[in-house]
Amino acid sequence: MTTIKDVAKLAGVSTATVSRVMNGTGYVNPSTKEKVNSAIKQLDYRPNDVARSLYKGKSKMIALFVPDIMNPFFPELARAVEDVTNQHGYTFILCNTDDDFEKEQTYLNALQQKSVDGIIIVSSTITKELVGKISTPIIALDRIIGSNISSVTVNNREGARQAVQHLKSVGCKRIAHICGPEHVSNTAKRLKGYLDEVKNEDWFLSSYIVPGEYNFETAVQATKKLLTDHTEIDGIFVWNDLMGIGALKGAEELGINVPDELSIIAFDGITVGETTTPSLSTMAQPIYDIGTQAAEMLLEQINNSGYKTKREEFTVQLIERQSTRKRG
Ligand code: RIB
Repeated sequence: MTTIKDVAKLAGVSTATVSRVMNGTGYVNPSTKEKVNSAIKQLDYRPNDVARSLYKGKSKMIALFVPDIMNPFFPELARAVEDVTNQHGYTFILCNTDDDFEKEQTYLNALQQKSVDGIIIVSSTITKELVGKISTPIIALDRIIGSNISSVTVNNREGARQAVQHLKSVGCKRIAHICGPEHVSNTAKRLKGYLDEVKNEDWFLSSYIVPGEYNFETAVQATKKLLTDHTEIDGIFVWNDLMGIGALKGAEELGINVPDELSIIAFDGITVGETTTPSLSTMAQPIYDIGTQAAEMLLEQINNSGYKTKREEFTVQLIERQSTRKRG
């Protein structure tokens, strides 16, 4: 295999000069640059990851950790991160962690071996202690990891409040909440927003809050149990769109018409929510924007040693669709 020494020998220069030409760092006179590029072409030299990272200390790779690639929210988020990082010449690596601490540690170790330049992390299991031990630039996306780690999130609590206010505005009198997984920080924030709007209602019962555990199937079962135990419920705020689609299915299996008898609104704004029958109302996160913002903040952190920790919070937007159409 051709090495950087072979290129230097053929061009009649040092390996350091070859490295400067390849990495565009430092001055090389045009004729020397031409000789080096000609030698690289003639020998078809391609530096391996280790060579590149040794010479530049950077691998031109950026990774994104997501907890569940089966949830359409995360591929939509990854699309934005990949677009921005590719535009800046970085290779994008997607790591599915299942919100598993051991898996996250394994990925972190592997990526450090490859001298990855930066990591964007969506996680409710990784700790600020673990992240603090590594020098690789990190951005927390969707969920905050620690006060000294830059983050990009949305206004979860206010968004949940607006969801319940919308259900009230279309005529709902008894409103329940299918909440997310307990270990996810957004779960508590959205639950607080729901409670802000219902806890002082004379009709509110704590049994109107049921766990949905992040996915479609558990949301179907949770919805059926909720509506069987409480036939008076006529509105449900669901923690995320994937579970919101499960709630639509659960109501359908019970023969309950949405929205004539029951209104459902969820949270995220994933594209598939437009395709259900009825289409799903949601508090839409600016998914592409938050992914873009996280990638741009990471690039700034990689390239600017004087970077200061930043927290960006985006605003969710009410998207009214058929599942909360005003009654009567
Ligand atoms: O649907 C996935 C959920 O996990 C989203 O609500 C997102 O905010 C993340 O917390």
